[in-house]
Amino acid sequence: MQEVTVKTLGDMKARGEKIAVLTCYDATFTHVVEAAGVDVILVGDSLGMVMQGKESTLQVTVDEMVYHTACVARARQRCLLMADMPFLSYASVERAIETAEALIQQGGAQMVKLEGGGQQLAAVHALTENGVAVCAHLGLQPQSVHKLGGYLVQGRNQQQADEMLRDAMNLQNAGAQLLVLECVPQILATEITRALDIPVIGIGAGRETDAQVLVLQDILGITPGKLPKFVHNFMEDADTIEEAIRRYVKAVKSGSFPTADHCFT
Ligand code: KIV
Repeated sequence: MQEVTVKTLGDMKARGEKIAVLTCYDATFTHVVEAAGVDVILVGDSLGMVMQGKESTLQVTVDEMVYHTACVARARQRCLLMADMPFLSYASVERAIETAEALIQQGGAQMVKLEGGGQQLAAVHALTENGVAVCAHLGLQPQSVHKLGGYLVQGRNQQQADEMLRDAMNLQNAGAQLLVLECVPQILATEITRALDIPVIGIGAGRETDAQVLVLQDILGITPGKLPKFVHNFMEDADTIEEAIRRYVKAVKSGSFPTADHCFT
């Protein structure tokens, strides 16, 4: 069994092979997600809503992220394990290093993810200089929901689009090895994906990114309430949870997901 590493993902981008990423927050689901062929598991701070019933990701703590990351790490065998740095836990370089230390040493994360552009360059640089694998996150940044005024598509005007492309390049130059783009018009996500050497993971970012990520419970159709436009319920035609996740992986790898209906203009 070949473990997925950042090098594997870089090679996949170079070959034009799509990468399937899924969130997961516990050991039981990790076994299923692994068996279904997912490449990267994200222990997202979306666990605040999905696992804890909170309104947003803002109240998720480092200890809670460490707890869920460790639950996943105990079952993980092949997938690359990435964990979110929660709200304000990387507001300074010192805090970023402490948070990464906890997620990696106590949680077993192999990569950490943080939201933000220019203001995060120092943290990304310091982390990567110290050997930490970092995934950046641009576009809709859920930890800034109150500043943004809602969960809104980002990068629709030229100034925002130019800034996002510049931030993406700067984050790559600072050492980031993956980039998540959330709720970004397809045309901009495509431009950023082509401009970067590192793999770009889209969620509501169109069909042309190197990878797709969704929330596990969303693709199983068990999330209460109205789902975002970019989600598809893969349980609809499946008999088992593993089969639904396999269908997601197959759809991402073949390019049949997302469709135009899941994309923003
Ligand atoms: O917290 C999360 O699950 C995420 C993704 C959905 C990108 O950041």
